[in-house]
Amino acid sequence: MNNVYKKLLMCVESIQKKTDFRPEVAMILGSGLGDYADGIQIEQTIDYTEIEGFPTSTVAGHKGRFVFGYVGEVPVVIMQGRVHFYEGYPMTDVVLPTRLMGMLGAKKLILTNAAGGVNFDFQPGDFMLIRDHITVAVPSPLIGQNIEELGVRFPDMSEVYSARMRDVVKRIAGDMGIKLQEGVYMQLTGPAYETPAEVRLARILGGDAVGMSTACEAMAAHHMGIEVCGISCITNLAAGMSAQKLNHVEVQETADRVAKQFKELITAIVMNI
Ligand code: HPA
Repeated sequence: MNNVYKKLLMCVESIQKKTDFRPEVAMILGSGLGDYADGIQIEQTIDYTEIEGFPTSTVAGHKGRFVFGYVGEVPVVIMQGRVHFYEGYPMTDVVLPTRLMGMLGAKKLILTNAAGGVNFDFQPGDFMLIRDHITVAVPSPLIGQNIEELGVRFPDMSEVYSARMRDVVKRIAGDMGIKLQEGVYMQLTGPAYETPAEVRLARILGGDAVGMSTACEAMAAHHMGIEVCGISCITNLAAGMSAQKLNHVEVQETADRVAKQFKELITAIVMNI
């Protein structure tokens, strides 16, 4: 059997020994939303280290566990702390948790991240609904023997981010009076922030925001038929767009500044999606 699938099955089994919770919505939440899961009605948590074969995250400030519980009436699984490609894991490991949550029953996935704004109309603190993505700078998570049990060899990617969900998110943001940008997210490997030339390249290619996650997870989810919704928090203008140099502390500070509103938006989305 395909080794990637074998590992997935091992993780699924390991989790199902601990819980029979069936999530409807899966969530992978980025910077600023690290503690979102602490505020939901928690039924059970499982540390990544308890799951046999699971790639454990090394990024400071990211908790490594799955939280199973309810947002309103909606059964959810939240990945508290994601796996990044820049940590050195192969892409198949980076998207393993996404696939895992799908195999546990999740039919919908909400992804968030912190991103640098490439579009000149964006300001730090803005939210950007992801309409589409560019992944040409990172390896595809679907490279390798195809897992037929999950999806087809050559999947269509013309609507990775569900148009239906985007409409719902726009309506909700409008009702809540939250300003919502919309655009194309470009995933780069990180961990270094981009050079100004790379940011110009991203803009020429059609990118509105740059970041180090999300698109690979969206691809893996879409491959297996999960409906995907993605929102970026624009924490800074990308390199070269302002006089300021980039650092993780400022990215975190902006993410924290708008976290309360971001959480309210996410809650409303889960309950209406
Ligand atoms: N570039 C890449 N990733 C990021 C950025 C950025 O400017 N800001 C937050 N995450």
